[in-house]
Amino acid sequence: MASVTQMILLFVAAIHGATMMTVMVATGKTGLTIFIFGDSTADVGTNNHLPTCTARADHRYHGIDYAYSKATGRFSNGRNTADLIARLLGNYIVSPPPFLFLLSRKATFKRNILRGANFASGGAGIFSKTGRKNFHKVISMAEQIQQFATVRSNITELLGSPRDADDLLQNSVYIISVGSNDLVEYTLSQGGQTGDPKQFMVNLTEAYATHLANLYTLGARKFGIIGIPPIGCCPAARPHNSSGGCFEALNDNARSFYKSMQSLLSDFSLLYQGFKYSLGNTYAMTMNVIENPRGNRFREVKKACCGDGTLFHGVTDCVVGAKLCSNRADFLFWDKFHPTEKASEIAALTLVYGEGAQYVTPMNLSSLVMA
Ligand SMILES: *[C@@H]1O[C@H](CO)[C@@H](O)[C@H](O)[C@H]1NC(C)=O
Ligand SMILES: *[C@@H]1O[C@H](CO)[C@@H](O)[C@H](O)[C@H]1NC(C)=O
Ligand SMILES: *[C@@H]1O[C@H](CO)[C@@H](O)[C@H](O)[C@H]1NC(C)=O
Ligand SMILES: *[C@@H]1O[C@H](CO)[C@@H](O)[C@H](O)[C@H]1NC(C)=O
Repeated sequence: MASVTQMILLFVAAIHGATMMTVMVATGKTGLTIFIFGDSTADVGTNNHLPTCTARADHRYHGIDYAYSKATGRFSNGRNTADLIARLLGNYIVSPPPFLFLLSRKATFKRNILRGANFASGGAGIFSKTGRKNFHKVISMAEQIQQFATVRSNITELLGSPRDADDLLQNSVYIISVGSNDLVEYTLSQGGQTGDPKQFMVNLTEAYATHLANLYTLGARKFGIIGIPPIGCCPAARPHNSSGGCFEALNDNARSFYKSMQSLLSDFSLLYQGFKYSLGNTYAMTMNVIENPRGNRFREVKKACCGDGTLFHGVTDCVVGAKLCSNRADFLFWDKFHPTEKASEIAALTLVYGEGAQYVTPMNLSSLVMA
């Protein structure tokens, strides 16, 4: 049994050109369970299950570099950051499946749920109202946590003892990647910000704190929090700057969100016993790539690979008929908002193995698993 697993892992690692180290880490932690929350940066097909939702990626050219070029609902040419983190951290090939998919397969639900689930929904935000106007139906963070509460009761029932369930849930890792949609809606609403920016950030941080506290109450202890990247530099945002630079209003908010998260999480680790976290500075990571493309082996860090309109292909979504680049490994951006698989891979490697406080603090995700 173990050797079959190892061989599959070796095979998977070989086809993705991964290092021996990855193989060792993957086989060493076969028991790790991962739960994933957030937005399109982590969605692996949740929104495919929402008939009225318009934030979807279950159509070409999404997934063009995924196995069988399948459009799975990932907003990427291949796998996304959630997939790559799960692969590096645990015995996963990609992210655990969407909770809504698991739910639709009653016969295997119990067998699968112990290996985690992905609740992330493209278009969702920290605030429950985020995404509703633009995408009609998304699963907000509050709903995602309600779904996790159901999973928790299913796991408790399955293991037959609340103590065993608590053990499993306390040793699981909770990856959260959310906030970009809240910032975009606030910053771009009616062409300008409504309400005091400081107060907005206070409100956003309070809402995030409520989510974390609810997860903690449900048994979560190990949090992998992914910050907001410089969304002012994505192809959709650059046209808001007449000189073609990054749209600073969005980037300012992304930076202040990171600062708020730093103090929120350090407060939480003092306040809540056993609370452990890893905070990923995707803002700094992505800025490093934008400012130094060559050093990071990218050629194009402004334009979307798939899209159309403006200099940056930042108007049209990635749909059939849009422009599509062939050299996808040269691009930072897959579509007008989302990174390519290559960019996600660099981010995942940094979050999991990074050293020093520059990009991930106070510990990387591989240390969080051990903590
Ligand atoms: C999971 O738990 C919920 C709430 O307790 C329950 O309604 C549901 O039937 C359970 N699902 C399965 C497949 O056991
Ligand atoms: C912050 O929250 C308060 C209370 O819910 C609300 O009245 C206010 O409009 C919010 N401010 C901003 C800028 O979002
Ligand atoms: C536009 O980009 C330039 C840098 O290229 C920057 O100095 C300026 O602040 C930006 N303007 C806006 C409105 O974001
Ligand atoms: C992760 O962080 C720990 C603690 O800072 C560090 O010792 C280690 O070298 C880092 N990298 C890996 C792969 O664990």
